[in-house]
Amino acid sequence: MAFFSDMKILYHMLVKPVRGSSHAERLESFYGGQAQSYDDFRKRLLKGREELWERLPRPQDGVWVDMGGGTGANIENFGDSIDLLKKIYLVDLSASLLKVAADRFEKRGWTNAVPTEADATKFRPEEGQADVVTFSYSLTMIPDWFAAIDNAVAMLRPGGYLGVVDFYISRKFPESGLKKHGTFCRGLWPNWFATDNVFPSPDHLPYLRRQLETVYLGEHMTRLPYVPFIKTPYYIFVGQKPAV
Ligand SMILES: C[S@@+](CC[C@H](N)C(=O)[O-])C[C@H]1O[C@@H](n2cnc3c(N)ncnc32)[C@H](O)[C@@H]1O
Repeated sequence: MAFFSDMKILYHMLVKPVRGSSHAERLESFYGGQAQSYDDFRKRLLKGREELWERLPRPQDGVWVDMGGGTGANIENFGDSIDLLKKIYLVDLSASLLKVAADRFEKRGWTNAVPTEADATKFRPEEGQADVVTFSYSLTMIPDWFAAIDNAVAMLRPGGYLGVVDFYISRKFPESGLKKHGTFCRGLWPNWFATDNVFPSPDHLPYLRRQLETVYLGEHMTRLPYVPFIKTPYYIFVGQKPAV
């Protein structure tokens, strides 16, 4: 039942301590007990994922790398266009979530989608270059997020696209044209999410905009399940690596 499934997820998010001496162990400690119920709750928690997918191209015979891809729920967003792509690497460090992704791909007959246990800061596709790299609510969970962005930009072919959707907060004094969040918002959300080792940052978006040409940026607010009155900020960013 949906209610009991939600309670199980909330237990893992709010009560159960996250243990482990490495980043991978901590991720598995957090996700291991909730992998099978992950998708339903995250559909209501993680907004903007479908829109990000709609805004990205599906290059014929292209290579797409989804960093921190989890259960592969976003791969459903390709619809029939999944057949256009040569390879989709779903990169993650949580074996439990990758198992859900592997079962999904097998059931769907998506032989070009490959669950890959690897660190987003280091993974490179065997083709050498990628046409599209995505981070869907994963940058905030990657401690070396700047290394993950550097790695993604390095593997993109010139003219390739990087797509990101995630929670964030603005800087106190954002660049002109970017949204500004109040003191309460900037103080609340980093502390709120830190319990789950999720770190909304004022610096992800400015760093992405330094590395890539901005093709699209949407800055939004959304409600969290079971949290009344207040909203949390998230953004959708599509950037293009300059052609040399
Ligand atoms: C909030 S989940 C999002 C999953 C999925 N992208 C989605 O939109 O449903 C964040 C994911 O990032 C993964 N992750 C965190 N750090 C990582 C790293 N360094 N390398 C690869 N994956 C990582 C986690 O295991 C988790 O699956």
